Amino acid sequence: SVKDQKELQNYMDFLLPLVLDAGKELLTINSTDDLKVEEKSSPRDLVTLYDKKIEKLLIEKLKENYPDHQFIGEEETADKKNYTPQLTNSPTWIIDPIDGTNNFVKRMPICAISIGLTINKEQVLGIVYNPYANELYTAIKDKGAFLNGKKITTSEVTEIQRSVINYELSLATISTQMCNLYMSRLNYIIGEISGIRSYGCAALGICYVACGRVDAYQADALYSWDVAAATLIAREAGGYIIDSSGKPFDLMKPNVLVASNKKLADQYLERFAKADKEN
Ligand code: IPD
Ligand code: CA
Ligand code: CA
Ligand code: CA
Repeated sequence: SVKDQKELQNYMDFLLPLVLDAGKELLTINSTDDLKVEEKSSPRDLVTLYDKKIEKLLIEKLKENYPDHQFIGEEETADKKNYTPQLTNSPTWIIDPIDGTNNFVKRMPICAISIGLTINKEQVLGIVYNPYANELYTAIKDKGAFLNGKKITTSEVTEIQRSVINYELSLATISTQMCNLYMSRLNYIIGEISGIRSYGCAALGICYVACGRVDAYQADALYSWDVAAATLIAREAGGYIIDSSGKPFDLMKPNVLVASNKKLADQYLERFAKADKEN
């Protein structure tokens, strides 16, 4: 309804200055500054002072303003041992303070602050901000997707042979099983596609589909905070989002294929299904 749309716009207006400020702070970091890098579960699972700081700040400010809302944040979740966040019908902010921490640690300017909101378990608002490129992606459900305030749409590529995919290969490092899955899916697509990328930032990777820089994005075993904002942005830009097994997309257990359109998604799914049969 119009009232709901207005409320969502109010949330957006409240959040944007906070997100922009947090992002701008990242730009002040010097090449010699200590990021206070810590390993969480493994050497590829890193957290820095800034991941913690940004998440804490965003949750604090949102809580102050919206005391009855729920929060799912990557670092807060990691701090609680053996805790799996559940989505409820309450308004829930899903926050990845820095998506692409590995890039951030290596000073690769491909990382973003990502904030999604669900109401009644439905994605209704998304913000992805890469301060290094000065790119702010936003969407409100049914209102389209925007990059720095300009409407964006996915590409018109409908044939796999003409498509470039952002294939998140670093997920293959998780386990032998994941490695086998990724490698065999890769085998089924690599000879046909026009190009492949692997940026190491799910939120931006999906936003790149939203604005037509790539035609597809695929990653399994992600978390809600990696995709909560970007998948809404891609959907609002005309994109098609589905579980890479062909099942419906599950925000709380994202194995995600994002494509410019359904026709293209179906061609990827067909090849992934062949690979998955062998795994
Ligand atoms: C990571 C990024 C990356 C993906 C990893 C994620 P983080 O998030 O989204 O693209 O390959 O699996 O964990 O930890 O940098 O927020
Ligand atoms: Ca992380
Ligand atoms: Ca992430
Ligand atoms: Ca993160």
